[in-house]
Amino acid sequence: MKNLTLFLLSVCFLMACTNTEKQTEKQKEMNRFIDSLMGQMTLEEKIGQLSQCSGEFATGPDNNPISRTEDISKGLIGSMLNVSGAEKTRRMQEAAMQSRLRIPLIFGLDVIHGFRTGFPIPLAEAASFDLDAIERSARCSAIEASASGLHWTFAPMVDISWDARWGRVMEGAGEDPYYGSLVAQARVRGLQGDDLSADNTILACVKHYAAYGAPMAGKDYNSVDMSMGHFANFYMPPYKAAMEAGAATFMSSFNDFNNQPATGNSFLLRHLLKKEWGFDGFVVSDWGSVQEMVAHRYARDEREAALKGITAGLDMEMVSECYRNNLAELVKEGTIDESLIDDAVRRILIKKYELGLFEDPFRYCDVEREKEIVNSQPLRDEARYVAERSIVLLKNEQNILPLSPSVKSVALIGPLAKSQKDMCGSWSCADQNKVITLFEAMQQRGLTINYSDGYDLKTDEITNLQHTLAQVRKSDVTIIAMGEEAWESGEMRSKADINIPAGQQKLVEEIVKTGKPVVVLMMCGRPVIFNTVREKAPAILCTWWLSSEAGPAICNVLWGDYNPSGKLPMTFPQHIGQIPLYYQYKSTGRPAGQDVWCTKYIDITDQPAYPFGYGLSYTRFDYDNVRVEKSDEKGVYAYVLVDITNSGNYDGEEVVQFYVRDEYASITRPVKELRGFEKIALKKGESRTVKFPVTDKQLGFYNNDMEYIVEPGEFTFMVGRNSQDVESVSFTL
Ligand code: BGC
Repeated sequence: MKNLTLFLLSVCFLMACTNTEKQTEKQKEMNRFIDSLMGQMTLEEKIGQLSQCSGEFATGPDNNPISRTEDISKGLIGSMLNVSGAEKTRRMQEAAMQSRLRIPLIFGLDVIHGFRTGFPIPLAEAASFDLDAIERSARCSAIEASASGLHWTFAPMVDISWDARWGRVMEGAGEDPYYGSLVAQARVRGLQGDDLSADNTILACVKHYAAYGAPMAGKDYNSVDMSMGHFANFYMPPYKAAMEAGAATFMSSFNDFNNQPATGNSFLLRHLLKKEWGFDGFVVSDWGSVQEMVAHRYARDEREAALKGITAGLDMEMVSECYRNNLAELVKEGTIDESLIDDAVRRILIKKYELGLFEDPFRYCDVEREKEIVNSQPLRDEARYVAERSIVLLKNEQNILPLSPSVKSVALIGPLAKSQKDMCGSWSCADQNKVITLFEAMQQRGLTINYSDGYDLKTDEITNLQHTLAQVRKSDVTIIAMGEEAWESGEMRSKADINIPAGQQKLVEEIVKTGKPVVVLMMCGRPVIFNTVREKAPAILCTWWLSSEAGPAICNVLWGDYNPSGKLPMTFPQHIGQIPLYYQYKSTGRPAGQDVWCTKYIDITDQPAYPFGYGLSYTRFDYDNVRVEKSDEKGVYAYVLVDITNSGNYDGEEVVQFYVRDEYASITRPVKELRGFEKIALKKGESRTVKFPVTDKQLGFYNNDMEYIVEPGEFTFMVGRNSQDVESVSFTL
């Protein structure tokens, strides 16, 4: 046996050596190819590679997307965005093949949550706390998008945010840097697979680098101001984690960071990302953000914007034309060295090479493959799987849910129940007419649906109340679909008030008065405030925007075919004035709740509506015997253990959460930070011990010099079902 093991080990070793040799041989071959290509390129052709133009539609303030065929065929454009489809991309690629050096284009699009098959918005997916499901979702996006001519998605957005007024929270993984980092990595892995040269993987683009999720007052595009220590501990980790997972590209953000726009910020791009972290991919600007350095008053004109961008390490310019119009002159007059341009070009050509485009520029443009894959059933099945896991049960008085199979008639209230467009959510590429709404899904279940609009989404007036109440009275149960329309969350959709409109909430109150069982479905792209509903409705599910399979997924949860397991990845406030709101606040010198002289509001409690990590199940999970065991394993200081029992009446899944507090440190530290979680499935009556390792990752932090350190001393470990409901044990390192 020993010999066999040795033999296998040596075979593995030999294989590893050969692979590395092959790798380096492959790399050498690539470098030779790119050197030779660059040797033939004119300065104008090089600058062309740094230019990205928008095709069919605009996702920013431009206005007439022009056909670029002529420039493409002259080799003056390196990439197109907002074009997709095997046929359309083939036509453009054919134009690129007419250029002197036949350098292929790369096609990018915002494939944010699924392509033609829509997956839940990213914030919703994050609520699944299921990294495998999240990775699979990204994998599906890549498979479908690549079949439609795309090589590159501008995702994942990994921006941490503590501000639900900022509409783009819907695109991220919520408020927590530890969890956000794991989600970022899962998404990168899903998109890129382990081989970019496979024809069903696409380049990921980590955005928006950096700190875009912290605009002042939650206003999109607003200035950002934070200390380096704060950045390093709370905002930076997901970018770094995504880089470490091998993300091929980064996007610079619109905002300024430390008083310089991110797009022209040498510290962020050249120093931290490229030098310190060793990022070897390329950085694209956000839409027009090179040119916007002029509006920032950081550059006098487009020429200076180009100079600041290229000097800072910004490789490709999206949409604006500062590079195209100025870089050549800047080189010719000696203001910048051509080596700056060469470095950017090389980074871009490497990705084109790794995608296999020099071998076959049309490998993503196969119309037959597109037909077979786009909107195919396996993708829809995956979309439903993730959608079910994204739903969060917020309240379930008297166990109204799950509905019994004997429930045959349903009063379905609210136009959102029927809206394909709104089911998709913001930044959606999904085929709207293929979205199964809640209404349709209920029809498919053969239920008697007594529908009423109930309220007017535009005016927030209750409409035809008597009719609605009559529908409620004649039904076994009432389901109210309420919340936001899709356009209300997303880019440019910052809100000063995230309360659900009063009319919608009042309607719930009226319906509850009938005494009939009521379930509220909160459809939203961000944490929203709905205090009346929270108080009056006996059952509430947060169903976010779940896209193509929204209806079936919601029905499966309502009728208990899937027992909800989602947990909130962002704190839900009870009052708008609490924002920014997050669970990992610091103690302060006058800690909350201690006295009258403490940090607090005088008009509301300090409590959120729902804390980070909150979510119920149809079953009950008991947490017992939280304990620490020291460990002798290398790199592991200890294990924290907890016994979990499913003591309710259903099989179910629970996200067991592990938080750490560093009791004293050389810088002020949060009262708790998530440092581990495990999603476990337990059958009714079953128990299991969950074990969390304690390593440097759990105990360390970035000091003010941005060094990651672990300080010996006392720690408190907490395990629980959400960030508030925890049991603690102490530990000394
Ligand atoms: C957004 C980016 C997006 C880009 C291209 C910008 O407005 O901020 O997230 O990738 O447009 O569509």
